[in-house]
Amino acid sequence: MTGLTPKMPLLDVRSLRVAYGGVVAVADVDVSVAEGEVFGLIGPNGAGKTSMIDALTGYQAPSGGSVNFDGRDITNMRAHRRARLGLARTFQSVELFDDLTVDENLLVASERAGVMLALRDLFLPARAPDRTNVDWAIDVCDLGGVVDRYPSEISHGQRKLVGVGRALAQKPRLVLMDEPAAGLDTDESLALGQRLRSLPDEHGVTVFLVDHDMSLVLAVCDRLMVLDFGHAIAQGSPAEIREDPRVLEAYLGSHGTPVATTAAGSGS
Ligand SMILES: Nc1ncnc2c1ncn2[C@@H]1O[C@H](COP(=O)(O)OP(=O)(O)OP(=O)(O)O)[C@@H](O)[C@H]1O
Ligand SMILES: [Mg+2]
Repeated sequence: MTGLTPKMPLLDVRSLRVAYGGVVAVADVDVSVAEGEVFGLIGPNGAGKTSMIDALTGYQAPSGGSVNFDGRDITNMRAHRRARLGLARTFQSVELFDDLTVDENLLVASERAGVMLALRDLFLPARAPDRTNVDWAIDVCDLGGVVDRYPSEISHGQRKLVGVGRALAQKPRLVLMDEPAAGLDTDESLALGQRLRSLPDEHGVTVFLVDHDMSLVLAVCDRLMVLDFGHAIAQGSPAEIREDPRVLEAYLGSHGTPVATTAAGSGS
């Protein structure tokens, strides 16, 4: 090998379209994410960010286009099979099991369904669960102090982190996060940003971060895309996005003042 062959993107999306009846939420969007990057997707309320994550992770069938993951066409693959390939996600509204502790919430998320595991459970019902990925996720999300607490006993910020931890406990190759910082205060958001930043280099996990907190995404991402009414109006580095006139007009308001922040319409 010469080493000159361009690296295949980990996620390669072509002309992705998501429509709900007559409402086109994602309009023929192309995007590719390289292994080892933190990629950001921003856009105002209703821009199509969650619809895009849903289509990429198999929670919503696309009406057009293709999704490739690690060179494999996963456009019509069921969500659980994508998860098994190493695609994990978080949800915009925190979905935790209220009657399980934080530790148990992570443990159930880490157990990948599969024939071999099912057989092992059948023949070795008393086997100890494999805690490797759970302990790693607890460490990355700094949840060590609350592992024995129930979701109702911890702060909103910590619950959001448990949501992130549940996705990480699957030890994914790519994690897609739907507004993980919504409702966090500035310090919590900063701390989360630093954790996300460390995921590719220190832990080999590529990140696809959705948020409408412009400052977080600009600070944390290598590259980002801006969606507006389902259309990708800009893609580039944080510096390029900051200067893009279409972004300034559509997203920052005519005077360059941010109009959408973490507080708005987070749904969580
Ligand atoms: N299940 C659905 N049925 C019909 N329309 C939907 C559905 N889900 C989303 N939409 C519409 O699709 C568009 C995109 O919504 P989506 O939730 O993907 O945006 P978003 O960028 O995630 O917004 P937010 O920042 O508020 O989370 C909106 O017009 C929304 O009303
Ligand atoms: Mg959304």
